[in-house]
Amino acid sequence: MKISFILSAVIVLAVRCTSGYKMVFMIHGVMSDKGSLDFLSEYIKQAHPGTEIHNMNLFAHYYSLEPIWKQVKGFKAEMEKLLNNQTEEVHLIAHSQGGLIARGIIESWDNHNISSFISLSSPQAGQFGDGFLHLVFPGVVRDEAYRLFYNRIGQYTSVGNYWNDPHEQEEYRQYSKFLAPVNNEAFTDDSKRFRRNLCRLKRLVLIGGPDDGVITPWQSSQFGFYTANMTVLNVRQREGYRKDRNGLRTLDKRDALILHTFDGVQHLTWHHNITVIRQAVLPYLD
Ligand SMILES: *[C@@H]1O[C@H](CO)[C@@H](O)[C@H](O)[C@H]1NC(C)=O
Ligand SMILES: *[C@@H]1O[C@H](CO)[C@@H](O)[C@H](O)[C@H]1NC(C)=O
Ligand SMILES: *[C@@H]1O[C@H](CO)[C@@H](O)[C@H](O)[C@H]1NC(C)=O
Ligand SMILES: *[C@@H]1O[C@H](CO)[C@@H](O)[C@H](O)[C@H]1NC(C)=O
Repeated sequence: MKISFILSAVIVLAVRCTSGYKMVFMIHGVMSDKGSLDFLSEYIKQAHPGTEIHNMNLFAHYYSLEPIWKQVKGFKAEMEKLLNNQTEEVHLIAHSQGGLIARGIIESWDNHNISSFISLSSPQAGQFGDGFLHLVFPGVVRDEAYRLFYNRIGQYTSVGNYWNDPHEQEEYRQYSKFLAPVNNEAFTDDSKRFRRNLCRLKRLVLIGGPDDGVITPWQSSQFGFYTANMTVLNVRQREGYRKDRNGLRTLDKRDALILHTFDGVQHLTWHHNITVIRQAVLPYLD
């Protein structure tokens, strides 16, 4: 009994050591479930044999509309359970809304050991477009949506937590319970921690492209966003970056802010596209 336990522990350790790849956690997008990431998971296992992958199956479909902080808590607890007090370094990959949940986990987890965070077309700077809105709220128009989202009730839905209306910035900063604080656009008691924990990443890999069709503007996948006059600034042109509000500039200085842009990839195909996986995912899963 005891010996077989020790033997299996040795074998588990041996497999981990010889495979040499860090454990990978995955978080799916809105109105979806872990199944959407099965292809990517299998692809990684074939390319990097022995990788231990946890494609987490929480907050599927309609539950994905629950508040982002609630989902952060749930996914983080699942990661802690699976890590079982091991302090090893791991990677985190997330698609779409999952990339915001992932960032909430990273920023609120002191001394985390997340090495690469790979964000597959996630609205990191927020969302302001009908395409996405209509997936979930078909009757609402973009320019009126802030009335729905920028109040206490509207913040009970995930989409409200990262709706970013460039014409209603004061209300955004006042009401957004998730995005404004984690981007340090609204300062809270946690701002310093959030920044420090984001900077703890070995790499922040941001993947997106102009044919995404859902994330609006698509540059939001790389922290770009609209100004009040609807011009899009890329991450390095924005004030938050220049003032290094949430640590992006610090990451960039040590070449840890990595942007990948691909043409011809639609929102629901990032995690199925072999070019994307080979060029922008696998190289960071060391
Ligand atoms: C992890 O560590 C904490 C604090 O040391 C302990 O309370 C907890 O029981 C441990 N969990 C497991 C699963 O070993
Ligand atoms: C991360 O790793 C360090 C060093 O091994 C360890 O001290 C720390 O507790 C780990 N963090 C977590 C959250 O487990
Ligand atoms: C739009 O706003 C940006 C930054 O606020 C400014 O640099 C740019 O000149 C403006 N463009 C137009 C067309 O007004
Ligand atoms: C995959 O991405 C490449 C690189 O941008 C693109 O040219 C190609 O059309 C994409 N393939 C599919 C099936 O979407």
